[in-house]
Amino acid sequence: MTSKIFILIVLSAFSFQLFSACDSKDKGIGPVSKVELKPFDNVLASKGKDVFDKNCLTCHRFDKEFTGPNLTGITKIRTPEFIMNMILNPEGMEKENETIKELAKKYPMRMKTQNISEPDARSLLEYLRKIDGN
Ligand code: HEC
Repeated sequence: MTSKIFILIVLSAFSFQLFSACDSKDKGIGPVSKVELKPFDNVLASKGKDVFDKNCLTCHRFDKEFTGPNLTGITKIRTPEFIMNMILNPEGMEKENETIKELAKKYPMRMKTQNISEPDARSLLEYLRKIDGN
């Protein structure tokens, strides 16, 4: 009896892992656990563009690969929490998030933690929404 329960627990833990590894609802790893998306805010997005041009443009472009991945369409393939956690905690994501671990293999350089504040990360998310027409 106990061994059956044990097997059940192991199996459910395993399927949970499988599920989260290819989960389109993956929130990533970092300080952001929930983002309430409001209707698109253009003022916030233009603040995000300034933060982007200062901190991200060195490695990211839209519509093409650069030192880092092409960010066009990112808000369609990742959750808002995932995107903000990647901005705030890239090194943790590179160590512990399966999607980023895989992705990092394609790029010789790593994305580093840049001391972006949480409000600035939120404005970046709004800018990325603007690029994607979301
Ligand atoms: C030093 C170059 C560099 C800088 C600067 C940089 N990134 Fe990255 N970024 C990368 C690389 C390389 C990856 C691929 C994953 C990895 O290796 O960390 C990545 C991955 C990402 C991802 C995940 C893409 C996906 O498909 O899930 C997002 C989102 C992202 N970056 C956004 C940003 C934003 C926003 C900024 C500015 C705050 C920024 N990055 C600054 C190099 C950089």
